[in-house]
Amino acid sequence: MAIKLSICFLFFAFSLTQIFADESKEFVLTLDHSNFTDIVSKHDFIVVEFYAPWCGHCQKLAPEYEKAASVLSSHDPPIVLAKVDANEAVNKEIAAQFGVQGFPTIKILRNGGKDSQVYKGPREADGIVDYVKRQSGPPSAEIKSAADASAFIGESKVAIVGVFPEFAGDEFENYIAVAKKLRSEYDFGHTLDAKLLPRGESSLSGPIVRLFKPFDELFVDTEDFNVDGLQKFVEDSSIPVLTVLDTDPKNQAYIEKFFTSPRTKAMFFINFTAEGAESLQSKYREGAELYKKDGISFLIGDPDVGKSVLEYFGVNEDQVPVILILRDDNKKFIKPNLEAEHISTFLKDFKDGKVSPHLKSEPIPESNNEPVKIVVRETLQDIVFNSGKNVLLEFYAPWCGHCKKLAPILDEVAISYQSDADVVIAKLDATANDVPTETFDVQGFPTLYFRSSSGKISQYDGDRTKEAIIEFIEKNRDKSAQQEQAKEKAEEKPAQKEQEKDEL
Ligand SMILES: *[C@@H]1O[C@H](CO)[C@@H](O)[C@H](O)[C@H]1NC(C)=O
Ligand SMILES: *[C@@H]1O[C@H](CO)[C@@H](O)[C@H](O)[C@H]1NC(C)=O
Repeated sequence: MAIKLSICFLFFAFSLTQIFADESKEFVLTLDHSNFTDIVSKHDFIVVEFYAPWCGHCQKLAPEYEKAASVLSSHDPPIVLAKVDANEAVNKEIAAQFGVQGFPTIKILRNGGKDSQVYKGPREADGIVDYVKRQSGPPSAEIKSAADASAFIGESKVAIVGVFPEFAGDEFENYIAVAKKLRSEYDFGHTLDAKLLPRGESSLSGPIVRLFKPFDELFVDTEDFNVDGLQKFVEDSSIPVLTVLDTDPKNQAYIEKFFTSPRTKAMFFINFTAEGAESLQSKYREGAELYKKDGISFLIGDPDVGKSVLEYFGVNEDQVPVILILRDDNKKFIKPNLEAEHISTFLKDFKDGKVSPHLKSEPIPESNNEPVKIVVRETLQDIVFNSGKNVLLEFYAPWCGHCKKLAPILDEVAISYQSDADVVIAKLDATANDVPTETFDVQGFPTLYFRSSSGKISQYDGDRTKEAIIEFIEKNRDKSAQQEQAKEKAEEKPAQKEQEKDEL
């Protein structure tokens, strides 16, 4: 499920004139293909923004980025911020090399450009300065005093502190390795003295890692110093047991994390002001506590804020309260019009594999008399797979212009097969019905597939003309026994003619 990110995408590749008419000294270095490698290779640490002049978010960032560059130029040692116009054809290779997909993309380059990492910090000057300073320092900051600790941990973010008897040994090295990997997303610190920390048992001498968070149990410990295990611990424990989908800015980072995570996602949509909402919420939370360890993330939200999720599942507001689950293999599961006492049973049944996946389908049409037959998910099996007919199936989207252009052509094809009971021309709205992805690869619209009566499936990539489509169908269809005979006769005839000719 894609969620909206505040970047402009490359495919809006039109161009506007750049209007930064600032005459004064620029602190942000301008780099291009002629000097990028040379300059980057001279820096142990440099920040590079890939931008496009027409991108609104880039224009908004520019003065903040410049202000931050001016502050950071007097840092000891100075920190350089640079920018590359990635819309310029000559610079596209550099952008591609750093995997730039949208604008602005900011990268932190270390080691003369050998290591790169995505900038995930704020977009206003003070925030940029803060974040970049931390990124330019060691991957984990030493905590030496209670004041260090309270400044580092704070009240409103995730922070991770390793407690060690000495800053050496395998555990410490693995901790630093994880900090290096995840430093763009989390703050890492280390200390010799657990008494400095604000929460938890303070007589520990370690090695132990304590993750502080502003939600749920407020801190959690691990003694797993395996690099992968520690990384998983950090990623899993920094997601709330229950992510709340609303418009509160404080929640947005968690919501983004929820939707971009590869875990199975359970989402509960309820009317928070309706009667009984509280007991629904508390039952759901109990389920979340119970099953979070099974690789399931839980979210609760208002159906209005989650409209696009409901649409994705093909669910209506009158099915609320509803639990929607998107399993890690992209299969959907739903439980509509829930009551509080259903929640734990449903979640348990889901976990035990006892719930069948939900297939999004339009209702079966009451009449289907047009030449091109309407297929919905629920009739796909009957019309396409089990009908024993040769079926040409178009996957379309209602908004798709090429599909609209193809429609009258498909009509003509269908009309020319109206007297042939063995051929069906059909269409399926792939935005309103689930496509069985194990059989059909639908990446764009229209996508045309042909299934012969004996089950051979092929994709149609030819011209979108009546003649080309009919030729394809004739070449790929399976003939009925009757037609085979007719065909043999037809082929015999010219042969006889040849003979006759010979005899003449
Ligand atoms: C890199 O080259 C471009 C154009 O050739 C120039 O405008 C820019 O100032 C150069 N950057 C540096 C840091 O020398
Ligand atoms: C939510 O419930 C309240 C109280 O029953 C009701 O007034 C309101 O219309 C409901 N909202 C929606 C979107 O159904």
